[in-house]
Amino acid sequence: MYILGIESTCDETAASVVEDGRVLKSSVIASSCAEQALYGGVVPEIASRRHIEAISATVGQALEEAELKPEQLDGIAVSFAPGLIGAVLVGVNFAKGLAYSVSKPLIPVHHLRGHIAALYLTHPDLEPPFLCLVASGGHSHIVQVEDYTHFHVLGRTVDDAAGEAFDKVARTLGLPYPGGPSVSKAAVTGDPHAYRLPVPHVEGKYNVSFSGLKTAVLNRVNQAEMKGETISVPDMAASFQERIASILAEKLLLAAQDTGAKTLCLAGGVAANGRLRQLVNEGAQKHRMRLCLPHLRFCGDNGAMIAAQGYYELQAGHTAGLRLNGLATLPIDFEYPV
Ligand code: KG4
Ligand code: ZN
Repeated sequence: MYILGIESTCDETAASVVEDGRVLKSSVIASSCAEQALYGGVVPEIASRRHIEAISATVGQALEEAELKPEQLDGIAVSFAPGLIGAVLVGVNFAKGLAYSVSKPLIPVHHLRGHIAALYLTHPDLEPPFLCLVASGGHSHIVQVEDYTHFHVLGRTVDDAAGEAFDKVARTLGLPYPGGPSVSKAAVTGDPHAYRLPVPHVEGKYNVSFSGLKTAVLNRVNQAEMKGETISVPDMAASFQERIASILAEKLLLAAQDTGAKTLCLAGGVAANGRLRQLVNEGAQKHRMRLCLPHLRFCGDNGAMIAAQGYYELQAGHTAGLRLNGLATLPIDFEYPV
């Protein structure tokens, strides 16, 4: 079965064809990231405009590279929530038009479920149940993936998402957007123990909080400025990365031990972080759990993850009509129909 996946919830316009939820046939990504970097973050209006300009050619190229015509598809999956609403609607409306024109099922896919499905593209033998940390620019969830379309959230951030914290700290340190890659790059030559940053207290055993950590970095930088001192950017980047990665890894491993999970996974943009991957790997080995990490090309937003999850949603009968709307927010454990 060939599913086309369309993604436009943030600054990537992406399309991909995946066979049977597992085999990549094509993947095309047009990103407005470089332009957004000029403003230090994603400007929603710019994202929407660039999606409108890019979507038709991006989908066309994904079909061309897969050597398929729209008529040969078995379904059209689209990331319909959560995300920047103006951006989401570009993908949703394009998918609706295409599905209608070739009379194929329209499959609404939750963006975070898509991030999790990126793992199926990397690990052909991975099947639920497993425990997954989904960490992106907008979300940080510890999720029990019960089966392909059933999810139970054990913990979440009570304030900033992990990716958002990386982005904000990067800005404080004068590093470019997106913050995750630029902070980890700066951290390479830094001492992770140079600055002592707080471990935030948070209600809920598996919840996380990053707002205090972000503020601690800001305060330290401001204090140094007032005293005429200089902050070592590599040292602060390394100290921050060490703290946030260890919090995420510890919470995931705690949840894994408590629930008796045999398989652990990471997903989302922050899953590209080398230190986080390393810490989770060490913990998984220690507790004899299997660890599955997404290939780096599938950590950030892409169409393939939407196509992969779309395949499983279609199997479960989760299709939509032309009344489908995009949503800015939606929990991962929502119920179809939408
Ligand atoms: O999943 P994603 O591509 O988009 C959303 O759904 O939000 O995640 C983007 C986030 C950004 O905040 C970015 O700074 C972060 O993922 N990110 C990273 C790394 N690469 C991207 N965070 C930490 N380390 C990285 N290497
Ligand atoms: Zn994402």
